[in-house]
Amino acid sequence: MLRTDLPRQARELVTELGERAVVCDMYDLTGSAVYHDVAGTDTHEVRELITLVRRVPGPVLDLAAGSGRLTLPLLALGRQVTAVDLSEGMLALLAARLEESPARLRERCTLVRADMRTFTSPRRFAVIVLGTSSISLLDADGRAALYGTVREHLAPGGRFVLSTVELDAVDGHEVEVPFVGVSGTSYRFFERWDPGAGRRVVAICPAEPLDGPVTVATSTVAVVPADRLEAELAQAGLAVLSRHALGDAGARHRDILLEAEVSR
Ligand SMILES: C[S@@+](CC[C@H](N)C(=O)[O-])C[C@H]1O[C@@H](n2cnc3c(N)ncnc32)[C@H](O)[C@@H]1O
Repeated sequence: MLRTDLPRQARELVTELGERAVVCDMYDLTGSAVYHDVAGTDTHEVRELITLVRRVPGPVLDLAAGSGRLTLPLLALGRQVTAVDLSEGMLALLAARLEESPARLRERCTLVRADMRTFTSPRRFAVIVLGTSSISLLDADGRAALYGTVREHLAPGGRFVLSTVELDAVDGHEVEVPFVGVSGTSYRFFERWDPGAGRRVVAICPAEPLDGPVTVATSTVAVVPADRLEAELAQAGLAVLSRHALGDAGARHRDILLEAEVSR
């Protein structure tokens, strides 16, 4: 059945493709490869995040680590890194990247398939990272559970570093952005933002579909402005120490990095 919440142009494309359209989640076994091709090695926010992590020595917990866009730079800092993700497909991509990495990096990385809301470990971490505005993948209850996980796993003096995205309604509520993946494949990125519902739906599909099945990878995410996030963190006993506007995130997105610590 056609998903009516997809951006209009993605819906039209799916209709046009008919049975050839394979609409999947961005992080399932099929969608993971698309995410990784489009964004998995992007350097956005990496420099700013690493600058904050560098200041606090000790092991790092990389939540929603995906295919390792942040995990590998964290390992390059010389840290022990525990990379947590829910998706088998994304973790398989990360494992493959680690296999190709020098042993001195690979040996310091632990992969865990788990839900970041309920993840438990006897270890405590100097820094917990949740990048790429992945906090937006959780609803309000999920975020509250996540803050509990973070508090429980931060070592004394530890930092929680997370990013979020704010949107400007400059061109209406739907945008299309062309992308070229690392593989050289051209993609169309569609986004539909529903400000009333506080969420956006994104869809990525190849710009020049070949014969046969065509993957349309989708994700529905909340839009959590930094002020709201800061208030939620305060309520959970996490005080924001610094806020950093990140460089151009493209289209109408403004990415913001927050650094927090346990306050009580
Ligand atoms: C936007 S990607 C970010 C991946 C990576 N950090 C990066 O920068 O490319 C979001 C990741 O969150 C993972 N994810 C979604 N819900 C999750 C959950 N509840 N617990 C753990 N991981 C989750 C997805 O599988 C996906 O790999």
